[in-house]
Amino acid sequence: MLYSDLFAWALRRCAGNELPTAIEVLIEDSFSLSRSRFWIQKNQVIRDAKGVRRFRRRLRRLLAGEPLAYILREKEFFGHAFAVSPAVLVPRPETELLVEKALELLGGKAARVLDIGAGSGCIAISIALHAPVAVTALEKSRPALRVLKRNIERFKLLERVHPQAGDLFPPAGEPYEMIVANPPYLSRGDLRQAPRSVRFFEPAEALVAGAKGTEALERIIAGAPRQLAPGGRLLLEIGQGQRRSVSAFLKAAGLREVECVRDYAGIERVIVAQKDR
Ligand SMILES: C[S@@+](CC[C@H](N)C(=O)[O-])C[C@H]1O[C@@H](n2cnc3c(N)ncnc32)[C@H](O)[C@@H]1O
Repeated sequence: MLYSDLFAWALRRCAGNELPTAIEVLIEDSFSLSRSRFWIQKNQVIRDAKGVRRFRRRLRRLLAGEPLAYILREKEFFGHAFAVSPAVLVPRPETELLVEKALELLGGKAARVLDIGAGSGCIAISIALHAPVAVTALEKSRPALRVLKRNIERFKLLERVHPQAGDLFPPAGEPYEMIVANPPYLSRGDLRQAPRSVRFFEPAEALVAGAKGTEALERIIAGAPRQLAPGGRLLLEIGQGQRRSVSAFLKAAGLREVECVRDYAGIERVIVAQKDR
């Protein structure tokens, strides 16, 4: 069998339900081929029987709806490959907007940053890779914390990204110049409507926050003023249609809403607020 035959066979099995790129990536990873190598040798006979078995096993998982990132145990975010497992949310492209905004506001200056619900650490680590910050990466789930620590080691950031177990906030200490969070923001109803790959494979505690989905956002906003330095900023990723509720929470907490960034689909996605000086 040629590599191109295997590719065509897999595409037929998926009946158009999977992107050709996902299958291509799965073939490349199963046979340890670079992208260009795959294209160069796609009309060559496959001699790696183990690779074929590996690919078939993984394809079955993909067809069952498992996210490609869990199968490959890696996901690219902000130009870097993060280790992932089913214990953490698969980093999403829209979250890169939050990182971009955080870096813009930090302006290359040293700062103390708190990342609430750090998961894989994609936000905390991406910020630390591009700015001279010290980040506390707080996470409630123990299995997620293990993935977070693995990524901190992978990026050699042990000195500047500090994992911490906790429920939304660390014990009060020195204030932070910036708090960032991509908290769970789906309602239970939203989760029922979510694609199978999300519903059955991603950790519910990373996705769902109460009946309306705004419970974690409300708690973070209420607690933020105590942890922020004067003039400090709060950057939150929010769900579709949550802007109004979030604006009301900010007002109640005495934080000034500065900006709302839309994602590539035009959805209001990242809210920036500031504590008075
Ligand atoms: C939407 S995921 C975001 C993960 C990661 N920051 C990202 O952007 O991919 C939310 C994360 O918050 C964590 N979490 C949920 N409730 C929490 C709480 N009360 N305190 C701390 N972390 C919490 C979840 O375990 C999960 O890792």
